[in-house]
Amino acid sequence: MRKPFIAGNWKMHTSEAEAEKLIGELKPLVKQLQNVDIAVCPPYVYLHKSVYLTGESNIFVGAQNCYMESKGAFTGEIAPEMLKDIGCKFVILGHSERRHIFGETDEMINLKVKKTLAADLDVILCVGELLEEREAGHTESVVESQLTGGLKDLTGTDMARITIAYEPVWAIGTGKTATPDQAQEVHAFIRKWLAAHKGAAVAEACRIQYGGSVKPENAGELLGQSDIDGALVGGASLKADSFAAIVQAAV
Ligand code: 13P
Repeated sequence: MRKPFIAGNWKMHTSEAEAEKLIGELKPLVKQLQNVDIAVCPPYVYLHKSVYLTGESNIFVGAQNCYMESKGAFTGEIAPEMLKDIGCKFVILGHSERRHIFGETDEMINLKVKKTLAADLDVILCVGELLEEREAGHTESVVESQLTGGLKDLTGTDMARITIAYEPVWAIGTGKTATPDQAQEVHAFIRKWLAAHKGAAVAEACRIQYGGSVKPENAGELLGQSDIDGALVGGASLKADSFAAIVQAAV
């Protein structure tokens, strides 16, 4: 049985005071919830404080990105070792906003994945197609090439630290959620790809989150699909009660 994993990607939102308030409100709401992994991914500048604030709670802290080098003359970048150093548990890599706004390629994302694992952090690797790719019938080939590129050279041991997040780009921040059937179809495809390329045991164990306008109202049905093992939540993770309701739906 795969343990559900619900992560909140705060993107470039909240002030320091709002981050503190959000974590303060979330902790008691999810305290009793078991058999689920819960995480928040605040902006870099609030990570250290978020690690401190989540303390002994059942909430992990992850980062939204990192660089693919450990140190050096890379002005403005953050190394995975630094994230490990301040207590982060994992890093989101290959988010569609990184791919489409900042031009990240599968090759860069693969280097980041390897560097992040080497720094002893887990990874959420995001994949997903654009609306025009879906309409052209290219969803599977796009997702397949993102998996092939992003997971290149990774062994079964590496794969134990990877969660895949399927986030159809047309469903992110648009209010247009993939239907449970549409999401399940791609999740099943991802699991089949994992079985073929990384082995049956990896495919069986690997958690695949869905992301894209997940809300308390649709979480139950999405999370009820056999290959959907969690959610990567954007907008609805910025309110403690809606994020907690999504976590509750996973339990
Ligand atoms: P929304 O939940 O706001 O659609 O964002 C999804 C997402 O991109 C999470 O990484």
